[in-house]
Amino acid sequence: MRLDKLLANMGFGSRKEVKQLLKNGAVRVNDLVAKKPNVHIDTTEDIVTCYGERVIYREFIYLMMNKKPGVLSATEDLREKTVIDLLSDEHRHFNPFPVGRLDKDTEGFLLLSNNGKLAHNLLSPRKNVPKTYYAHVQGIVTEEDIQAFSEGVTLDDGYETKPGKLKILKSDAVSEIELTITEGKFHQVKRMFEAVGKRVIYLKRLSMGPLHLDETIPLGGYRELTAEELQLLEDIAEE
Ligand code: URA
Repeated sequence: MRLDKLLANMGFGSRKEVKQLLKNGAVRVNDLVAKKPNVHIDTTEDIVTCYGERVIYREFIYLMMNKKPGVLSATEDLREKTVIDLLSDEHRHFNPFPVGRLDKDTEGFLLLSNNGKLAHNLLSPRKNVPKTYYAHVQGIVTEEDIQAFSEGVTLDDGYETKPGKLKILKSDAVSEIELTITEGKFHQVKRMFEAVGKRVIYLKRLSMGPLHLDETIPLGGYRELTAEELQLLEDIAEE
C-alpha cells in the first residue's frame, strides 16, 4: 500500500495534509525519514511512525454503541443527527455503518463496522441471529401473549413472524418484558405487540447473537469490541 494512502486511511489527514507531513520529515519508515508519498509499504513488515507515533494499519473497525434515543441508525441524514455523528474522527474516518437498524426512539446495543461481508453474514435471514430486547409495554402482558409469540404472530401487513421468546418481567398497567426474535423486520417488536393489541412505549436492545450490551457504556457512547467479542462475532458470521 502507498505510504500516503496508509497515513490518510489511518486518520493522519487528507492526502494533501499527509503530503505536507511527509515534506516536513515527520514520517519515518523503518527509522528512515520518508518524503515520497508513493513509497510502497508492506503493512505486515514495515514500521511506520509519524512524529514518533507508531502508525498501525488495520482495515476494519468494530464498535459497540449504546444508542441513545433521538439519533438515526443511518450513515447520513440531511436534517437529523445520526449515530455516525456520535463518533470521534479517529473512528469516523474508517467509514463504519450500523449493522442492522434501531428505530430513532430505540436505545441500546448497536454494532457499527466497516466490514461489509461480516455485516451481510450477520444480517442474513439464514443465520437466525437472535436479538433480545427489553421493553415497557402499555397494558398487561399475559401468558396468552407468550403463547402467541411462541407460535409467531401476524403483522399489520399480513407477514407471519417466526416464533419469538417472550419473558414477562413485570405484568402491570405498564408491563416490563424481554423478547428474543431472530428476524429484523421494520419496527418488528412494536408491530408484534400491536398484533396482540398492545403498545411498546420504551424499547432497548440488550444483545445481538453472542454480544451483550456493555451497560457501562453511557447512552450515546461506544467502545471498540474486545478481541474476545470480535472472535465470537466472527465465529457466528462464518458458521
Ligand atoms: N423492533 C422495533 O420495533 N424497533 C427497533 O428499533 C428494533 C426492533
